[in-house]
Amino acid sequence: MLVAPSILSADFGHLAHDVKAICEGGCDLVHVDVMDGHFVPNLTIGPVVVEAVAKSASKPLDVHLMVEDNNFFVDLFAPLKPESISFHLESERHPHRMIQKIRSLGIRPSIALNPNTLPEELEFLIEDLDMVLLMSVNPGFGGQKFIPSVIEKAQRLKRLIEQRNPDCLIEVDGGVNNINVRELAAAGVDVVVAGSYVYKHPEGVAEAIASLK
Ligand code: DX5
Ligand code: ZN
Repeated sequence: MLVAPSILSADFGHLAHDVKAICEGGCDLVHVDVMDGHFVPNLTIGPVVVEAVAKSASKPLDVHLMVEDNNFFVDLFAPLKPESISFHLESERHPHRMIQKIRSLGIRPSIALNPNTLPEELEFLIEDLDMVLLMSVNPGFGGQKFIPSVIEKAQRLKRLIEQRNPDCLIEVDGGVNNINVRELAAAGVDVVVAGSYVYKHPEGVAEAIASLK
């Protein structure tokens, strides 16, 4: 299982320290939650702060856009050369065009789905994607409760992926812990995002990451 801790649960007063800690603690990706206060009722960080984060990160950035204007935010974050950018299907009128744009910038394209969006919505997009991000909470905040129906959704998505694009990864984001990660792995999930579980673990971030793996 690849582990992408979300820095949304880090101490923003000591961000460089907290980013180094997860990289040295064995994470695979650094998950960056970008919120615009419109698509979701919360506002997080922009490219200036993420550029500083990138300097402290020895692992690739996994950018998750929760915004209305994907075009604008992809242009803002592309110069930081993240490994992947996920945008929400629910906020994009031309998802296929957005996938092509992200790939043309040398970044892996990924689509994020809200908890109620059907995985079959991706039937004619999946061949062009490197990853699908399934939300297991409503996007906007860290520390929410895991929505268990994402397990069945991951199983259905896995079937679609096996038929049409076996290299495409499944990432699950929200409320992930050392208990539900087992069911996620069994359902075919490749990457888990974990914010509060990692940063609030009593034995520290390295122990938290190891327990998820
Ligand atoms: C929610 C974000 C998640 C969140 C994960 O909108 O996309 O990445 O920060 O945090 P936890 O693991 O605390 O749910
Ligand atoms: Zn996220």
